[in-house]
Amino acid sequence: ITVYVPRDSAALAAGADRVARCIAKEAAARGLMLELVRNGSRGMFWLEPLVEVNTPAGRMAYGPVTPDDVAGLFDAGFLTGGRHPLALGPTEEIPYLKKQERLTFSRMGITDPVSLTDYQAYEGFAGLRRALALAPEEIVQQVLDSGLRGRGGAAFPAGIKWKTVLGTAAAQKYIVCNADEGDSGTFSDRMTMEGDPFMLIEGMTIAGLATGATQGYIYVRSEYPHAIATLNEAIRVAEAAGFLGDNILRSGKRFSLAVRKGAGSYVCGEETALLESLEGKRGIVRAKPPLPAIEGLFGQPTLINNVITLASVPLILARGAAFYRDYGVGRSRGTLPMQLAGNIKYGGLVEKAFGVTLRELLYDYGGGSASGRPIKAVQVGGPLGAYLPESKWDLPLDYEAYAAVGGTVGHGGIVVHDDTADLSKLARYAMEFCALESCGKCTPCRIGSTRGVEVIDKIRGNQNRPQQVMLLRDLCDTMVHGSLCAMGGMTPFPVLSALDHFPQDFGIEAPDRK
Ligand code: NAI
Ligand code: SF4
Repeated sequence: ITVYVPRDSAALAAGADRVARCIAKEAAARGLMLELVRNGSRGMFWLEPLVEVNTPAGRMAYGPVTPDDVAGLFDAGFLTGGRHPLALGPTEEIPYLKKQERLTFSRMGITDPVSLTDYQAYEGFAGLRRALALAPEEIVQQVLDSGLRGRGGAAFPAGIKWKTVLGTAAAQKYIVCNADEGDSGTFSDRMTMEGDPFMLIEGMTIAGLATGATQGYIYVRSEYPHAIATLNEAIRVAEAAGFLGDNILRSGKRFSLAVRKGAGSYVCGEETALLESLEGKRGIVRAKPPLPAIEGLFGQPTLINNVITLASVPLILARGAAFYRDYGVGRSRGTLPMQLAGNIKYGGLVEKAFGVTLRELLYDYGGGSASGRPIKAVQVGGPLGAYLPESKWDLPLDYEAYAAVGGTVGHGGIVVHDDTADLSKLARYAMEFCALESCGKCTPCRIGSTRGVEVIDKIRGNQNRPQQVMLLRDLCDTMVHGSLCAMGGMTPFPVLSALDHFPQDFGIEAPDRK
């Protein structure tokens, strides 16, 4: 009998280690033999720690389990799927999971994250094996044809970036994985690194074969110690089995991988600041051009992609570009692992094809607000994303449709606020966040964000309000058009959306446009 207790940080925070120890102790005391597997999370955080048991009828779920529940679970015969108040039935039948379209997250929570046997039993390394039989140009063509766009937030076509690196001659090229997941309410990168690290390793190795890069770095934020530990363990295991190193699966091709830890700066998620940090310097944004694809790490051609972008590649290679491209709408192809957070009843990971609406995510999956009060505003796409009012919740989730209303899909972070939220306060927070995290390189962001806080304070304090609102709009305009990177360039999005959609929170009647 196999019992699964997740090792994902979200489960650990809810007490999964203690639950695992209690289960092992209780089984020993009762003279029962069981295999305890520490799997990844299924992404239903309100049920963590979610304990599963492998029975002849499939995997049965129980949750949320506390150490105090363990003896009762054994009494109820949970090892054979017995009834218990915490019983949730077959895991795969839980509607939250069943209604999803899990492509990238297909193994998530099912396997032991560092078991190569598990990984390969669920299609693992099929993409790499196919890539080894293809020419670099053919691999890049698959990525181009799949329609995959950068999942870090910018949505730049991944295949074009790969092609640029492939086409730039150099003695040394690099693959860099941006795992500095700093957006508020996001955790899909973390779940991937903790719950299915071989998928990222495989994606990066394929990227190396496609572009001619032989060294990869995964730049992980320091706040993710479990992800760092799991990645290091998985890299060791993959190397020992010949999936990484000087002679990948005896093909004569080589690719090596190492983990590097960030130091707590939001702007180090910006690709050029990340490169500076990787080079051991202070994380300050570089002007582009040159693009990192041409002159990146240590001045060499460098492919930088987000975790989810790289993790999407093994499946694209294994099943073919058309399979992936068949999901989605418009120019937004494939799926996006969306992350429900903030004031939401059922927070967690929902992977769906593009085209799903925010309303479906908020109510069909999220179950409405956690407070039970009406939802007022939803910030999509991290701290630089717009606050969307209810009138926008029926838009299909699609990069272009969101951009058309001043919104961003970003990295798929969805943070919910109920009707007690004061949007002028949240707008102030956006400016304050920018002032705190600005790298200081350019004036609109460095000075503008501090002035932005002051102006919003004056509006909130009713000091010459109409003039200050105009000033705030002017300032936002300067930041959008004059900032060197997305930090200063996108901070106005949450501010302006708050002002436009929730003017009453600023004490003004209607959008006060010039
Ligand atoms: P960008 O639009 O400047 O660049 C996108 C990517 O495409 C870059 O890697 C760039 O080097 C590459 N690129 C552009 N033109 C190219 C070409 N012709 N050939 C090859 N490569 C090319 O956007 P940026 O500044 O990299 O990212 C901004 C986004 O980051 C925002 O939309 C925001 O949503 C997101 N973001 C995500 C965070 C997270 O935690 N995931 C945190 C903060 C921001
Ligand atoms: Fe640095 Fe801000 Fe300018 Fe970006 S916008 S380069 S974070 S000062």
